[in-house]
Amino acid sequence: MTPNLAVRLGPLTLKNPVMAASGVFGYGLELLEFCPPEKLGAVVCKGLSLTPWAGNPGPRAVEAAGGLVNAIGLENMGVKAFVEKALPPLKARGATVGANLIGQTPEDYAALAQILSQTAVDFLELNVSCPNLAQGGLAFGADPEVAARLTEAAVKAAEGKPVLVKLPPLVADVALLAIRAIEAGAAAVSLVNSVPALVVDAKTRRAALGRLTGGLSGPPIKPLALRQVWLCSQAIKAPVVGLGGIFTAEDAAEFIVAGATAVQIGTAILADPRSPLAILKGLEEFFAAEGLPDVESLRGSLKGPNDP
Ligand SMILES: Cc1cc2nc3c(=O)[nH]c(=O)nc-3n(C[C@H](O)[C@H](O)[C@H](O)COP(=O)(O)O)c2cc1C
Repeated sequence: MTPNLAVRLGPLTLKNPVMAASGVFGYGLELLEFCPPEKLGAVVCKGLSLTPWAGNPGPRAVEAAGGLVNAIGLENMGVKAFVEKALPPLKARGATVGANLIGQTPEDYAALAQILSQTAVDFLELNVSCPNLAQGGLAFGADPEVAARLTEAAVKAAEGKPVLVKLPPLVADVALLAIRAIEAGAAAVSLVNSVPALVVDAKTRRAALGRLTGGLSGPPIKPLALRQVWLCSQAIKAPVVGLGGIFTAEDAAEFIVAGATAVQIGTAILADPRSPLAILKGLEEFFAAEGLPDVESLRGSLKGPNDP
């Protein structure tokens, strides 16, 4: 039996559950010879702001603790260039495309959603880890009510395009954040974003990154991400997209067992841009070997070691 790995995120159907995460796959065309974007469930493009952002001074990324700490600073071409230059060739290849939205005020997100609602983008993903300038720079996602209002405004402006809310890893109550995002109209949540981190050289007394702190990603954050995905999937009926340290098909299957409907591949793409395809092939083999017909038959099947 060939498993059917198509999954649904609200109104959106993905041909398979393996997506490229925002920030590691450019605009989907840079890595064509290694990973054709149309083969994946979806590609989420680099975070987009209303105008181009220059990003942080270097160094912008460093390996640490078996993972990566980055402070790129959300450098991007801006939504206008994305819509004119990056989106058409990506859609012409038949890729399912998500636009990741970044802003400094709730109005930024609504304006981006409005612009993108008129394009061929398949869904929006709100990165709520950005600092909210209206509230002293605290991340939008730090407060479930602020995140909910942001989501509501973006959903309204998106005029029917499915909206995912991408949750930060370290919040007081990640399940409440997920609940409020779905109540505010999101089709699904995705998590986790990178984990705030600092890399120090004791001899030079210097931080490794130009911005001093950054975001940790890759294998060290997988257990943290799995727990947050599990907590959210217990709290909401809507789909959860899991990510954080997925490098192998087995990692991806673990997120599905913990409750994820789909997964995103981040840092692994930087190590090997072919990894999403290898993970997809491995998942197909895993489902076939386990006699599982579809993702739903594995999803949320987590048991304790002492359960029957
Ligand atoms: C270099 C780099 C750039 C990133 N840029 C973005 C971004 O623009 N928007 C966003 O929501 N997440 C961004 N992320 C976070 C990833 O999408 C992902 O949430 C995080 O790295 C955890 O997944 P991983 O361990 O598989 O990398 C970025 C991550 C990295 C490593």
